Amino acid sequence: MRYASLYQRSIESPETFWREQAAELEWFRQPEQILSHQDGLYRWFEGGELNMSHLALDVHVSNGRGEQTAIIHDSPVTESQQRYTYRELRDAVARCAGALRDLGVDKGDRVVIYMPMIPEAVIAMLGCARLGAIHAVVFGGFSPHELAVRIDDAEPKVILTASCGLEFSRVIPYKPLVDQAIDKAHHKPEAVVVKARPQAEASLAPGRDHDWDTLTGAAAPADPVPVDATHPLYILHTSGTTGKPKGVLRDTGGYAVALNLSMGTVYNLDPGDVFWTASDVGWVVGHSYIVYGPLIRGCTSVVYEGKPVKTPDAGAFWRVISEHRVKTFFTAPTAFRAVKKEDPQAALMADYDLSSLEALFLAGERLDPPTYDWLKAISGDRPVVDHWWQTETGWPIASNPMGVEPHPEKPGSATFPSPGYQVEILDPNGQPLGRGEQGHIAIRLPLPPGCLPTLWRDDARFRSSYLERFPGYYDTSDGGYIDADGYLFVMGRMDDVINVAGHRLSTGEMEEIIGGHDAVAECAVVGIADELKGEMPIGFVVLKDGADIDHATLEQDLVDRVRNNIGAFACLRRVAIVQKLPKTRSGKILRKSIRQLSTEDHVPVPSTIDDPSSLEDIRGAMEEHRIGRYAG
Ligand code: COA
Ligand code: AMP
Repeated sequence: MRYASLYQRSIESPETFWREQAAELEWFRQPEQILSHQDGLYRWFEGGELNMSHLALDVHVSNGRGEQTAIIHDSPVTESQQRYTYRELRDAVARCAGALRDLGVDKGDRVVIYMPMIPEAVIAMLGCARLGAIHAVVFGGFSPHELAVRIDDAEPKVILTASCGLEFSRVIPYKPLVDQAIDKAHHKPEAVVVKARPQAEASLAPGRDHDWDTLTGAAAPADPVPVDATHPLYILHTSGTTGKPKGVLRDTGGYAVALNLSMGTVYNLDPGDVFWTASDVGWVVGHSYIVYGPLIRGCTSVVYEGKPVKTPDAGAFWRVISEHRVKTFFTAPTAFRAVKKEDPQAALMADYDLSSLEALFLAGERLDPPTYDWLKAISGDRPVVDHWWQTETGWPIASNPMGVEPHPEKPGSATFPSPGYQVEILDPNGQPLGRGEQGHIAIRLPLPPGCLPTLWRDDARFRSSYLERFPGYYDTSDGGYIDADGYLFVMGRMDDVINVAGHRLSTGEMEEIIGGHDAVAECAVVGIADELKGEMPIGFVVLKDGADIDHATLEQDLVDRVRNNIGAFACLRRVAIVQKLPKTRSGKILRKSIRQLSTEDHVPVPSTIDDPSSLEDIRGAMEEHRIGRYAG
């Protein structure tokens, strides 16, 4: 009953509950106001003052943890490892903050970080936080176009980058991508700081560009700047249903309090424990559980620059766990599907001592029951925890509460809501549904601390995207149900967002890119089930009258367009030409029917369809191009 009483208290007496949680942290000024509310938007801990870099570093150095390892950089792609104690990390961060200050960065200024998984990425984030500057990290797989869109939205004073990233053994020079992005963007940053890596040299533009080592080496260390709890810590852009990404805003105080709580209640981690989240600092998982969560908690965090497979083999996860004595491991299901594909019996596990490992956590997409069963079978009956969250929430909405009271696992379920989240299933009219009934998953307002207070400079879009559909609730855009025992099952997105290898992508954005091709009259992009990546985007294209282009050329053009405009990880690889898209009489594309055609024999013809023969056309195209169930 420990979970039930904790959860109940968080819902019935939220202000008392969160006041107690806030008291766990060191504030420069304790918050008196716990929850405030203006114009339908909520704020946590307004008036309290703190600093995230201080909490993540200085507090531990002052409390005797200075010599404990804070981060371990493990990089099979460069065959190197590097450790930073809390004291060393604090000093590096203070110098980075000093260097940023020398470049004119002040509280509230934005800094874009476009970096691979190197220690400097963590140092850069914490360096911004130290000054109260707002970082906007952009995943290194994004193209210059996407980087430019984010530069224009965040309007950074400075961009922090590295000379290159490494994908398996391929060197990807980052600096030319940054230069192209700055050329494309309307907003021009005043300075670019480049961490030189031995694998690639970067050219520096005199006056604007600086070498990371020289600049930080010459800088005086900066102290943490107290900021209000509601002060933005970061902007993290994520895919919506249109081409324009949403700038999810994260505050400082609520986030710190929520992460600290989750490190205990969800992940069961204490100071000194080793936590490894195999993700990327470019995603929310990286922000919360590679950087801020483990460091606030005084854990050791593994920063991994490698892949689940081929760096050098499918035993990579087991090697890192055994070498660094990892207690809790967190990754995306797709990563384990990649391991399973190469090493189905997990034979490589036998080479390693995994006695430190207590639990596996999975998120980023639903943990599909076959992958769950495989993990259960190979992991010696360790807990395998599927937990559900979003960039917007910043920490798990639902999880098996491992640090409070582990519950029996149900494959396919994210178990129970975390403290503060009132999760309900609603029908399309916003009426609550009963147990076992599938519908829209919504969270009753207010959202708990840590979740987005709004979108960067766009309250209106925040309201229209999340609050208007179901008044009084936050609309998660995920669908699912709660079973008779209260377990939550999250089944997938109800909008046009798809999930490819744990990466969230907008089909609407891909359609805009494809629609820009001279030969294309209209198109639909849908996510089709894929054994390894969960979903893969497939384009269905109607050609303009008289367009003179063959299928192979068009497909290559469109694949290149998506790679160049979004990035290779968007994985649009297949395009089919059709005569007509299935649409309702009011012109809405029937994506669900297209998806169904890729998996099912008998697809019902929707009563609203304009022309039923369009479904046959799509089916024929799938057969011809071996898409979905026709792949063989
Ligand atoms: N920088 C540059 N390019 C990148 C990149 C990065 N950071 N990340 C991916 N790419 C490129 C890849 O090189 C690849 O390019 P290619 O088409 O030229 O070969 C393309 O994007 C697709 O990459 P990916 O989706 O990663 O596929 P993969 O086949 O290389 O690897 C997995 C498959 C499952 C191993 C990999 O997707 C993975 O590790 N996924 C886990 C994702 C994750 O952690 N998500 C976080 C959510 S918690
Ligand atoms: P992102 O914002 O990139 O973290 O993606 C969030 C989306 O990923 C959610 O809206 C879900 O659709 C999906 N997702 C993440 N974790 C899970 C999970 N454990 N179960 C089901 N879906 C998930």
